Amino acid sequence: MTAPTRVAELVAERARRLGPIPFDEVVELALYHPEHGFYSSGGAAGRTGDFLTSPEVGPLFGAVLANALDDWWRELGEPDPYVVVEAGAGAGTLARHVLDAGPQCLRALRYVLVERSERLRDAQHSHLPMEPARQVLGPAVVTDPDEGPHPQTGIGPLVTSLPDLPQRPFVGAVVANELLDNLPFDLVERTELGWAEVRVDDEIREVLVPAAHDLALHAERLAPDASPGERIPLQRQATAWVRSAFAVVDRGHIAVVDYASTTSEMAQRPWTEWVRTYRAHGPGAAPLDDLGEQDITCEVAVDQLPAPDRNRSQTEFLTAHRLAAHLAEAKRAWTERAHIGDLEALKHRNRLSEGQAISDPAGLGAFRVLEWKVEG
Ligand SMILES: C[S@@+](CC[C@H](N)C(=O)[O-])C[C@H]1O[C@@H](n2cnc3c(N)ncnc32)[C@H](O)[C@@H]1O
Repeated sequence: MTAPTRVAELVAERARRLGPIPFDEVVELALYHPEHGFYSSGGAAGRTGDFLTSPEVGPLFGAVLANALDDWWRELGEPDPYVVVEAGAGAGTLARHVLDAGPQCLRALRYVLVERSERLRDAQHSHLPMEPARQVLGPAVVTDPDEGPHPQTGIGPLVTSLPDLPQRPFVGAVVANELLDNLPFDLVERTELGWAEVRVDDEIREVLVPAAHDLALHAERLAPDASPGERIPLQRQATAWVRSAFAVVDRGHIAVVDYASTTSEMAQRPWTEWVRTYRAHGPGAAPLDDLGEQDITCEVAVDQLPAPDRNRSQTEFLTAHRLAAHLAEAKRAWTERAHIGDLEALKHRNRLSEGQAISDPAGLGAFRVLEWKVEG
């Protein structure tokens, strides 16, 4: 038998004191405990990390997102400043790719990376030229002797990093790639006697307890047709996160990218299919094994979020924002330089395989891009 992890010990100690503890608290400790949580102690996306996300495949995803940011900027009437918040920004790979792509909105751009893990926020500083948040988020004003104070324009891109969404509402966009699946969630199971909550005891085993009235009502509303034995996630933190994004966007766009389905569809599948664990680029162990040493994620139930204005596949999103133009350019440049076989040639060839990976209908291309427009 292997020794329990530090997080397993913490969960056990808490369950001994308080009784079986809710699933979302277990996930919270496993992923985000300040010392022993997966994201505090070394877990991350990336080729050298634990799982590969679209930005970590290469720069192409960020280059197409840069086109989307330009499209949304134009729709808004080209505001300056144009604030783009990237939530769950990890070590800053996507931010770097967006900035390197040189979008048209660059001079107006205030790029804010929001990342909960202090370790990953520190890592961002080695890739990106960071400025103090209060200067990036304004109010950046110059005082004109004739016209009085007004926002300083044309000084972008300015980049900063925060542990939470900014407080002050802005005009711009909030984007998040694979954030919502990483937010702690509860688990409930339909039984012959009604809804039960899955909790975790002091031996790190599941126990079913009768669900509190509000939880049972919520579950019943989401999955009225669930049969005994079927489980669903209750993703209240994901819902709250989207609402908090609404609260900070005065006018603009919210877009989240994730693997997603619906609560009733998830009820019909084994729960271990939609709660997935990752570690060192492969599937991890069972969700309650190795707590703190593997990622725990949950497919996003779209019906638990505010209804999006748009819900399309990642491939459709990338196509709408001119993926094909990037691929045509890469193909042209690769064909021209293939006989030289230098680094520049390889860069273009890599772009072509990145294009396949991020639009693969059996993989990342099947992710959903959920978009909300905030009209102000
Ligand atoms: C699966 S990783 C995705 C990283 C990156 N977006 C990518 O696609 O490669 C999720 C990230 O979200 C961060 N995170 C989790 N909850 C957060 C929150 N409430 N606010 C900001 N970041 C959060 C985690 O620390 C982690 O770095």
